[in-house]
Amino acid sequence: MVFEVHYRTHTCGELGEGNVGQSVTLSGWINRRRDHGGLIFLDMRDRYGLTQVICDPERSAEAHRLASELRSEYVVQVSGTVVHRLAGTENPHLSTGAIEVVASQIVILNPSRTTPFPISHEAAQVDESLRLKYRYLDLRRPQLRDNIILRHRVVKAMRDYLDERGFLEIETPILMKSTPEGARDYLVPSRLYAGEFYALPQSPQQLKQLLMVGGMDRYFQIARCFRDEDQRSDRQPEFTQLDVEMAFVAEEDVMSLIENMLIFLIEKTTTKRIKTRPFPRISYKDAMAGYGTDHPDLRFDLPLIDITDLAAAGSFGVFKHALAAEGIVKGLRVPGAAGYTRKEVEEVTDFARVLGAKGLVSLAINAHGEVKSPLVKFMSPDEVQAIITRLAGQPGDLLLFVADSAKVCNDVLYRLRVKLAERLQLIDPQELALGWVVDFPLFHYDEELQRYDAEHNPFSGMDEAHISRLDSEPLNIRAKQYDIICNGYEIGGGSVRINIAELQHKVFALMNMSDEQIKEQFGHMLEAFEYGAPPHGGIALGIDRLIMLLADEDNIRQVIAFPKTQSALDLLMGAPSVVDNKQLRELHLQLRPEEKK
Ligand code: AMO
Ligand code: AMP
Repeated sequence: MVFEVHYRTHTCGELGEGNVGQSVTLSGWINRRRDHGGLIFLDMRDRYGLTQVICDPERSAEAHRLASELRSEYVVQVSGTVVHRLAGTENPHLSTGAIEVVASQIVILNPSRTTPFPISHEAAQVDESLRLKYRYLDLRRPQLRDNIILRHRVVKAMRDYLDERGFLEIETPILMKSTPEGARDYLVPSRLYAGEFYALPQSPQQLKQLLMVGGMDRYFQIARCFRDEDQRSDRQPEFTQLDVEMAFVAEEDVMSLIENMLIFLIEKTTTKRIKTRPFPRISYKDAMAGYGTDHPDLRFDLPLIDITDLAAAGSFGVFKHALAAEGIVKGLRVPGAAGYTRKEVEEVTDFARVLGAKGLVSLAINAHGEVKSPLVKFMSPDEVQAIITRLAGQPGDLLLFVADSAKVCNDVLYRLRVKLAERLQLIDPQELALGWVVDFPLFHYDEELQRYDAEHNPFSGMDEAHISRLDSEPLNIRAKQYDIICNGYEIGGGSVRINIAELQHKVFALMNMSDEQIKEQFGHMLEAFEYGAPPHGGIALGIDRLIMLLADEDNIRQVIAFPKTQSALDLLMGAPSVVDNKQLRELHLQLRPEEKK
């Protein structure tokens, strides 16, 4: 690596046996200092690695004296000679582990206060809010450093891949108009136009479509998106998408581009294995039926199986009760778990309760095929056997059932399935199970809003053969939509769009928007479609989620340099914060008395 020569000749990660005998200068942080009476050992750290420095009073009394003053996280410059480590003291875990630098001169570039947590400790040992407040210290730790480097490499691979295929990287505004992507907008009050607001983009959806109308043909952007929604471990109020749009494409074109790009970048940046190629495709309906979610974890089997019809037999109160309330009964087979103790079954049941189930019905089949279950008291042996057969239960298996509304059954069992897979160690941490979810309905009925709502977004196109159903059976229209999933996360989604003004208008109208509302909110889109909008489609990948999976992290904060907390706080800068009255006045804003701080 070539560097400015003022502070260093090498980084802390690059010296090896080939450098023995050379005079070098390193700059970096003191990772650790060990004082062995006569000798002082320093581990010097920078982004590139660690190098051991040895300070011997016989070689340089001054360097040794300074070394004794050094504390962790001091920034120092050390000059010296590279030597072989003594036989038996090499460190095979360190790229520089064969050598050390004998210091002849040390310069303290900047001391450091005692840090609020030791940089050399594992992250898990440090409270996360402390890590977020001192994120610049947290970033010095190898784990975060490696995540940030991986993120850079993945994004670089995306750019290269798309550039080679004729895509243009185009920026779109951050100050935008409210877009209906389903989440709440972050608003920015306008100074020049009293009472009016910009919105930060939830995604560049409309603008990328307009770029297609503008003839740009193939667009991408590493796009920051803002959504004021409830936070979870895989959500942040601002996050980054690889946003893509293409003209003159069908679903298959977008899917194959993205599939091949993901394979390319996974192979280029990780040692992970892709479980199935080409990526399996599963319909929305089958995903919900077999996994209880539209982003199933495909690393293991454990399918959910519906036994609603069989549950009607017999007189088991739990089943009867659910069926009477138009609920369903679904179960899953836990192979080899018949021997779970009462306590273990209780643990699993408690987990299901936390997820919202009223309980779990268990059925254990011991090695001799004998059945132990509350069911046997209320159902005939044949009726019980029919259930076992439906789940393909074998001696040694434990079958678990939830009876409830379809929503609760699916929500509980989808998470229980993952929990059990972890328990049964069915998950290979090196594996990435990617897949496509397809055949989404265009609309669902939103009970709360009492209207149809787009399953993905209102711009998604539909099967030509289903257009006539817009009037008669809107819930029965197949959208030209595809989601991409990986290890149980939705990492992206997109669609082939509507490019006909009349059809787009009809979709908005079905969503209960008045002509005025449509014109006010989407007039520009409808108008654009009247000036020769090409067929087009695209997708957006959640970059944070993708990197989280590639880096084996379990939350996206670990792959974002400066993330917000789960409750949307920036602990480092202290945002959000109050602003002074002058600023508010300029923006024509006034706080309600109870909200003044
Ligand atoms: P969608 O809303 O599905 O699609 O977003 C695409 C992907 O972005 C990621 N994502 C998030 N990541 C972190 N924090 C969040 N709050 C968050 N919300 C979403 C997910 C998701 O799959 N305009 C459409 C795309 C299109 O149709 O082209 C869109 O934004 O991984
Ligand atoms: P209870 O009638 O509440 O004593 O429950 C009897 C058994 O059925 C217990 O093992 C509960 O965990 C289980 N159970 C109760 N409600 C449900 C339900 N809706 N779905 C599945 N199991 C349930």
